[in-house]
Amino acid sequence: MSAQPNFNLTGKVALVTGSSRGLGQAIALGLAQAGASVGISARTLDALSETTSMIMDAGGFALPMELDVRNVGNTRDMIDKFVAEQGKIDILVNNAGYEEVSPSLELSEEIWDKIVDTNLKGAFFCAQSVGRHMADAPTGGTIINVCSLTSYVGVPAAVPYGSSKSGLLGMTRALATEWAERGIRVNAIAPGYFRTAMTNVFYEDAGWQSAMLNKIPMRSFGDPSDLKGAAIFLASDASRYVTGQCLGIDGGYLASI
Ligand SMILES: NC(=O)c1ccc[n+]([C@@H]2O[C@H](COP(=O)([O-])OP(=O)(O)OC[C@H]3O[C@@H](n4cnc5c(N)ncnc54)[C@H](OP(=O)(O)O)[C@@H]3O)[C@@H](O)[C@H]2O)c1
Repeated sequence: MSAQPNFNLTGKVALVTGSSRGLGQAIALGLAQAGASVGISARTLDALSETTSMIMDAGGFALPMELDVRNVGNTRDMIDKFVAEQGKIDILVNNAGYEEVSPSLELSEEIWDKIVDTNLKGAFFCAQSVGRHMADAPTGGTIINVCSLTSYVGVPAAVPYGSSKSGLLGMTRALATEWAERGIRVNAIAPGYFRTAMTNVFYEDAGWQSAMLNKIPMRSFGDPSDLKGAAIFLASDASRYVTGQCLGIDGGYLASI
């Protein structure tokens, strides 16, 4: 009989960037519930107390760390320290993200840099820092980049965001091919519409909500916990022959465009 797929993350060490709230918080909790020890991170330690409690209450192990992914040198130092303390790193989820709606004719260099440095440059250098450890490890590792529908479709007044998320999808594919022989798998997820601090302003508009629901074949918005299954799959040995892919978690949105 063939072996059953193994979704168990017991004994694995993970790092989820941007896990103080929203989608990153749910992903961190999901990985912890599947057995991983999870490094959680945000720009301030204070912001991580809720995620820490949720993971501890679920019987998991959370390791909070202050980390601004735009600061490449500091991020590298923090990741090196984390790996030295834990002895290894098996899983990275590049989730930290920033968005600020701005029409392109008025877009400032400052906003462009803040969005692209967080979503694309920050994600790459986290992958590089973690990848250097994974490349030396006998069991390699797995990286999950949190992309977006804007990796595939254009959204007005979201040019730096869409550029960064399209770039993140390209980065996923390129790194997957470059690091496959090092035992490092690189995949992505593309969440559809989820109500979080980042997107809340849109959901306050009932007209926007009903227009969006009409575009989603399943006619419902996502709940952050809907991301747990995909994250566990891509983080675990169950996906050991999967690399360079992006899994939409979007109620069928991408299938309908
Ligand atoms: N919500 C959606 O519908 C949706 C859809 C598709 C993709 N996404 C993507 O999913 C990810 C999470 O989004 P969300 O909706 O959960 O947003 P959110 O609630 O605003 O959470 C963003 C997270 O990123 C952290 N963060 C922001 N800038 C950072 C930086 N420079 N360095 C380190 N951490 C930083 C924030 O922590 P602090 O502010 O505490 O530092 C927070 O934990 C993002 O990559 C987003 O683009 C979201």
